[in-house]
Amino acid sequence: DLPLFTPQTLAGKRVIVTAGGTRERLDPVRFLTNDSSGKMGYAVAAAAQQAGAKVTLITAPTGLSAPSGVDIVNIQSTTELATAVLDRFPNADVLVMAAAVADFQPVTVADQKIKKTADNDEMVLTLKKTPDILKQVAAIKQPHQVTVGFAAETQAVLANGQKKLADKQLDLLAANDVSRQDIGFNSDDNQVTFIMPDGVTDQTPKTSKRVIAQALVSRVATILAAK
Ligand code: CTP
Ligand code: CA
Repeated sequence: DLPLFTPQTLAGKRVIVTAGGTRERLDPVRFLTNDSSGKMGYAVAAAAQQAGAKVTLITAPTGLSAPSGVDIVNIQSTTELATAVLDRFPNADVLVMAAAVADFQPVTVADQKIKKTADNDEMVLTLKKTPDILKQVAAIKQPHQVTVGFAAETQAVLANGQKKLADKQLDLLAANDVSRQDIGFNSDDNQVTFIMPDGVTDQTPKTSKRVIAQALVSRVATILAAK
């Protein structure tokens, strides 16, 4: 564990963490999702709990076991995630959006299983943008509240990350290069670049998601203390 990481680091703070890949349903037996394993978000929830926070983990289906001492809220779609976050955010000190949120959802959800027929050799799905949860949160964020995002990038990690930090009015962004196979989505390891609003960046070594989560929580504690 990282030094100086104690149950007092976030004592009494209310922390919301989101995790996993949201699912956008097409019909009763099919959905669109992404490669997120949920491991990074679960590690952040565990680290915040160990740092003394009261933690709510809002999670898409992952198959991971809940970290002990953490309240779990299960969601599937981006719309459900948005409602769960926006309901709780006014009473939270910190929000960490580690969920891999679907950017598009089907315009219509079929109530019955979609059938293939003799005349549909091709099928076109019409999707619409999902709500940007962190942008909605930015609109109601109070000065004492800390918001943290994750950015999955396959190119121009720093430039894209800096733009996301500004657009979503974040206090901290953890950017990672998901084009690398050795880290990120399904791996137990990760490497992120922390980006701060003042433009300072700090790349972690490649290490376990547990240690990266602890580094993130330590930074959150420092940001909270300075507010
Ligand atoms: N996020 C969100 N609501 C969405 C999409 C993303 O709150 N509808 C959050 C994610 O949880 C993450 C951050 O925004 O913390 C950045 O997500 P990312 O997918 O990297 O960025 P997008 O803004 O969706 O942009 P793009 O996927 O086009 O790079
Ligand atoms: Ca996205």
